[in-house]
Amino acid sequence: MLAKHVQGKEAEATLSPLFGQRSMDSSIPRWQIPETELSGSAAYQLIHDEMSLDGNPLLNLASFVTTWMDPEAQLLMQEALPKNFIDAEEYPQTAEIERRCVSIIADLFHAQASGQQAMGTSTVGSSEAIHLCGLALKWNWRKRRAAAGLSTSTPNIVMGANVQVVWEKFVRYFDIEARYVDMAPGRSIIGVPEALALVDENTIAVVGILGSTYTGEFEPIEALDAAIVELNAKTGWQVPIHVDAASGGFVAPFAYPDLKWDFRLPSVRSINTSGHKYGLVYPGVGWAIWRDTSDLPDELLFHDNYLGNDQITFDLNFSKGSSQIIGQYYNFLRLGRDGYTRIMNNLLDTANEIADAIIATGDFELVSSRQALPLVTVKLKGKRRYTCHDLSEELRLRGWIVPAYTLPPKLDDVEVLRVVVREGFSRDMADNLILDLTAAVAKLGQSPPAKPTKKPHSRSKNKVC
Ligand SMILES: Cc1ncc(COP(=O)(O)O)c(C=O)c1O
Repeated sequence: MLAKHVQGKEAEATLSPLFGQRSMDSSIPRWQIPETELSGSAAYQLIHDEMSLDGNPLLNLASFVTTWMDPEAQLLMQEALPKNFIDAEEYPQTAEIERRCVSIIADLFHAQASGQQAMGTSTVGSSEAIHLCGLALKWNWRKRRAAAGLSTSTPNIVMGANVQVVWEKFVRYFDIEARYVDMAPGRSIIGVPEALALVDENTIAVVGILGSTYTGEFEPIEALDAAIVELNAKTGWQVPIHVDAASGGFVAPFAYPDLKWDFRLPSVRSINTSGHKYGLVYPGVGWAIWRDTSDLPDELLFHDNYLGNDQITFDLNFSKGSSQIIGQYYNFLRLGRDGYTRIMNNLLDTANEIADAIIATGDFELVSSRQALPLVTVKLKGKRRYTCHDLSEELRLRGWIVPAYTLPPKLDDVEVLRVVVREGFSRDMADNLILDLTAAVAKLGQSPPAKPTKKPHSRSKNKVC
């Protein structure tokens, strides 16, 4: 026999209409755990409703991260939810699928063609992959220096000032000097001679970005490689290139197969990419790929005997979900090279249509490249009655999330709007966006002149994601 107060609660949970229950007309504790239970349906409804205050992912054109997947992929990912990826002994097939994904991605990046023994691992995103690749670069540099009896106290890394915030974290967490290549009028990505001028014997790597977060442009990695090869030959240094292909790693192999940016280039020793961006998987999964076993120092690999099997790991955490890895493999199997190519070409076509329509208003100039990521970055032409921030706010009233931000230091007097085109964003939705953007331009064009909004630039605060 249940106690009376329990009977009362059970009756409420099972018989009362959901919005007739007490939980629906009293405040719920927010910052301490509640004393008593709620029915599952009440807890679901409360949280579900609160989540509707978030932006709509479909209309979130700020993010590179996947917001749509096939229902079959979602089913597989749901089935994998209870599996801890690290338990390879218990879930050997999940581990096998991760190895297949690494092999597929290494092959897309032409690792096999380099004739070396590529290695790789899944990560939570490009950020973890960048920390791992950066650590390997630092340790390799230190080993070379120590073997030659040289100082190992002042490692540096050379990269454009347009790097994503993770690189600022990496240099701070792992005590490395950041040497930023300044942007310049007309150049919002790294410049090859400018990068070379910052390289010295203590440079652990030069970073090339395949798909700048700010403008989607591809950095000139082939030219960077040629210059580094020449410099290394002249000096006897062994400065490598790391490619941050967070966004471009799954675009270039399909949309620009002839572009040389990967292991076809001799100085490229490691690459990170985000499976959850154009790899088309829900967050969070990334990949770190090394050209050869020699690029991953043994000292960074951990052999552990957890739950009875000898496992080699290189990661910043231990437990993580398996679902995203399964989702990645589903995409490879489901889409193949043809499917990915078709999707990337569609996204690029849609981005071009949006760019054409925005330019046709006569108010904007294109800042992004049409031969790079499927996104559109524009700035306002000359002096207008409104700013990009005003337009962003106006679009928000219709639900669209289109960020406005300033370009990296030295170009931070340029304010831009950016629209990222992802899988799930149809041409029809692009047409709706264009209608709303055109209406916003017309409305703001009649408003009183905008007040200046420029604020002093801070490296970390202006970061876009
Ligand atoms: C160029 C670049 N690198 C790294 C990152 C970080 O990637 P993730 O979000 O997968 O950690 C981003 C994210 O937008 C990026 O654009």
